Amino acid sequence: MACVLVVPLGLFAVPIDTRSVFEAKQVSSSGGSTPVHQGLQMTIWDGVYTEEQAKRGREIYLRACGVCHGGDLRGADGPALVGSEFSNKWRDEPVARMFDTTRRTMPQDNPDSLGSQAYIDLISFLLKANGSPAGDAELPLDPEKLEQILITEKPFPG
Ligand code: HEC
Repeated sequence: MACVLVVPLGLFAVPIDTRSVFEAKQVSSSGGSTPVHQGLQMTIWDGVYTEEQAKRGREIYLRACGVCHGGDLRGADGPALVGSEFSNKWRDEPVARMFDTTRRTMPQDNPDSLGSQAYIDLISFLLKANGSPAGDAELPLDPEKLEQILITEKPFPG
């Protein structure tokens, strides 16, 4: 009678009663399918850059980007880089994609002109400006690691 719910990663099962939850756990711990990537994937809410890095990014931003995107990032000739329109556009994309796109296309009048480290520092500044917390390690230049950090909506506290 055990009813096994196969739940895609990231969705919540609504248990019918505690017994069925217990049974489901029993089944999965005895060799059921294991969720892929669990424990590997991070989000921008996990503290993926440092304060120092975002500070460097800010200086580069003011020098190379602010003229079009605004000193406060709220947009001028270019679109705003903070706020819901911006985060809706990037939601569920890996940081790797934001990094690549920004480097390939910005500054619009001179793309890919700043060097990789400057671009990764810029991304850390954009994350900070959009409310993500700083952490203990810098946002790395390693493309595989950047691929595993997802831009998501801010999770509910608790
Ligand atoms: C000469 C003006 C100009 C400069 C300088 C410039 N941008 Fe842009 N940027 C634009 C325009 C216009 C767009 C919208 C069209 C596009 O995406 O190509 C844009 C788009 C973007 C986007 C995508 C926005 C979105 O809604 O997803 C990002 C991210 C970005 N710029 C970052 C930067 C960064 C970082 C710098 C500094 C290194 C920079 N830009 C410098 C004009 C500029």
